[in-house]
Amino acid sequence: LTDTYTLSNGEKIPVVGFGTWQTPAGDVAEESVATALKAGYRHIDTAAIYGNEESVGQAIAKSGIPRDEIFVTTKLWNDAITYDDAKKAIDTSLEKLGLDYLDLYLIHWPNPKANRPNNEKRNADVWRAMEDAVEDGKIKSIGVSNFHERHLRPLLATAKIKPSVNQIYLNPSDQQKDIVKFNKENGILTEAYSPLGTGKILELPTLMEIAEKYNKSTAQIALRWSLDKGFLPLPKSVTESRIIQNAELFDFDLTMDEINILDGLDEGKLSLNPDNTDF
Ligand code: A2P
Repeated sequence: LTDTYTLSNGEKIPVVGFGTWQTPAGDVAEESVATALKAGYRHIDTAAIYGNEESVGQAIAKSGIPRDEIFVTTKLWNDAITYDDAKKAIDTSLEKLGLDYLDLYLIHWPNPKANRPNNEKRNADVWRAMEDAVEDGKIKSIGVSNFHERHLRPLLATAKIKPSVNQIYLNPSDQQKDIVKFNKENGILTEAYSPLGTGKILELPTLMEIAEKYNKSTAQIALRWSLDKGFLPLPKSVTESRIIQNAELFDFDLTMDEINILDGLDEGKLSLNPDNTDF
């Protein structure tokens, strides 16, 4: 869990992150993050809209782990449209997390309903605030989430600091091959949220067969595949045994054949359309 990828700006990022989407604020979030840190996770992924930044921050503070040994990501919500909105949102997230810097800050969605059809200008404006926060030492790396090529192209054209990460919905059933390819060609690390398909892919017969061979769970096979593809999976769980299990990925390897078989599970659909989603 201390293995890292190196981002385009030279910063290191632990290869597995602990996801907290749909983890309720309060005790559940605080305890699950505490459990993850105890299990060895050193990368926590949250977002302003998850409502659990304070609980995540509490768990980090109470863990006693030095700040520079934990990688923390949070995200800019859709209600931030202008440069000033984004500046304020960054400070609010820092305050809620109780941190004086973020390791990674992402634009959560490319095309907020409140600002259609001007998403290009909005993304360029909030990006400038994010770049300035990097300059001010408040953020180390900046990136995006749920962006497709048509959203990234204009941003790449105006950005002084290139996005280092694109976090997307990605698992063996939904492989998002076009945007994964575009990310790679542009030096953008692909982070995979819902790497277990929010738990819905865990009974796929193909995963079950491979899991049996290695005496691993289907979740572990899906996560190992994600790593073997060069993605950064962000498994979410509030259950101690699963939190621990989802980190035990480094004592086995899939064969090329098995990776190819898993590659074949792609249903080729775009599960989350960034132009229609604003929740
Ligand atoms: P829970 O949080 O109740 O433990 P994803 O990361 O793809 O969004 O998936 C998260 C969902 O999958 C949650 O419902 C979580 O349940 C469940 N889950 C996480 N890890 C495992 C695992 N190792 N085995 C089975 N279910 C899991």
